[in-house]
Amino acid sequence: MTEPRKIIIDTDPGQDDAAAILLAFGSREELDVLGITTVAGNVPLSLTSRNARIVCELCDRRDVKVFAGADAPIKRKLVTAEHVHGKTGLDGPELPEPTMALQPGHAVDFIIETLRGEPEGTVTLCTLGPLTNIALAFQKAPDIVGRVRELVMMGGGFFEGGNITPAAEFNIYVDPEAADVVFRSGVPIVMMPLDVTHQLLTRKDRVARIAAIGTAPATAMVEMLEFFERFDIEKYGSDGGPLHDPTVVAYLLKPDLFQGRECNVEIEITSDLTVGMTVVDWWHVTDRKRNAKVMRHVDADGFFALLTERFARI
Ligand code: BDR
Ligand code: CA
Repeated sequence: MTEPRKIIIDTDPGQDDAAAILLAFGSREELDVLGITTVAGNVPLSLTSRNARIVCELCDRRDVKVFAGADAPIKRKLVTAEHVHGKTGLDGPELPEPTMALQPGHAVDFIIETLRGEPEGTVTLCTLGPLTNIALAFQKAPDIVGRVRELVMMGGGFFEGGNITPAAEFNIYVDPEAADVVFRSGVPIVMMPLDVTHQLLTRKDRVARIAAIGTAPATAMVEMLEFFERFDIEKYGSDGGPLHDPTVVAYLLKPDLFQGRECNVEIEITSDLTVGMTVVDWWHVTDRKRNAKVMRHVDADGFFALLTERFARI
């Protein structure tokens, strides 16, 4: 049997972040969660740090180390998304306040120490929120960049445009300078943009299959999804809302669910109109360096089947 893949989940939970964490927890044979690092994004840092621990406790995983990270983007004022995720970021189910403690120390230092301490090329970074912690770690310790196995991120959008402005996706928009640092760093990137996540609608039949699992984590997840999707249903007029962040973990488990290509991606950081846009050279019309594998298509039924199967294992 192969060793489980070592991952750090950097996140701003968020109901869809919670779904990604559950997917990882349900996949213990394949994934070893070395730690969860939190960042300000969907809601302020104190709430994302609380929510990450709520999710761990919901899944009876008090053993997982949770570190708080950056409470603001590198250069900008924090933009949050309570209009999508609710006041707490994890609105929907009634869940108790967490009792497990945050780890001492800063998430950025945990990321640096872990990458230096583990054998080179063995740690994968899974990012589900703004890239602030990762950029700060790369700036503070450039030696770690070459030690990362892969950075798989939910972020950006190209053919689908943006979801917080016409041009920008939320995670990149919140901290475009951080995204710029990461895309220029040379780290191997797999990008799950809105082009993929907008194909993953939480349709009623899909949610019903998760509800049928009947466990506490699955039931709470359904309540989260039902809260989360109401905003998107109104916005897109669709049956269910797009499920973004679990694509990152699903890719590690079943990469063949996704199709994309290596492209150059640059981040817009100066224009007021398009700040946070991910400019993807999909057609290879420039000779700029291909710095990311950009996904465009996903097998949606296969994705939801995987999610349901793994949620049932928790
Ligand atoms: C991303 O933004 C957040 O609101 C979600 O959690 C996801 O990471 C989607 O644009
Ligand atoms: Ca997120």
